[in-house]
Amino acid sequence: MIQRTLLIIKPDATIRLLTGEILHRVEEAGYQILAMEQIHLTVEETRAFYYVHEGKYFFEPLVAFMSSGPCVPVVIEGEDAVEGIRRLVGVTNPEEAGDGTIRHDFGETMRRNSVHASDCAESAREEIGFFFSRRHLVG
Ligand code: CMP
Repeated sequence: MIQRTLLIIKPDATIRLLTGEILHRVEEAGYQILAMEQIHLTVEETRAFYYVHEGKYFFEPLVAFMSSGPCVPVVIEGEDAVEGIRRLVGVTNPEEAGDGTIRHDFGETMRRNSVHASDCAESAREEIGFFFSRRHLVG
């Protein structure tokens, strides 16, 4: 099934000039980039994006980190894109992520793990809508 998902290239990766390399991996795996932008999220925007984690012990440091520098949210389309991009990204902790995954290769810590990827089709819809409107979604 053709799906859309959201990937965010996080500040630890943009600051190390890894944006192009990460986008290359997405395209090389056969996915199409429908929309993207580089933005510096405010604290309030970051809190709103990660609202499902509010109250967890890692929430405040996560918000501080994600609003500390530029991010690149990317809308990706392709066959089973939600699961496929999660496989390309690897698990949350870079130390446990499989060889060749983005988090294994570029992630520094559980927090500074280089990318976010939507965890299911429903959150993908919600997360894409957080950053992009229909007119951005071309292709
Ligand atoms: P992400 O996929 O963006 O979703 C929530 C983020 O919170 C996650 O990636 C990590 O960056 C961060 N996170 C999740 N669990 C922890 C944790 N135990 N310690 C620190 N950060 C975490």
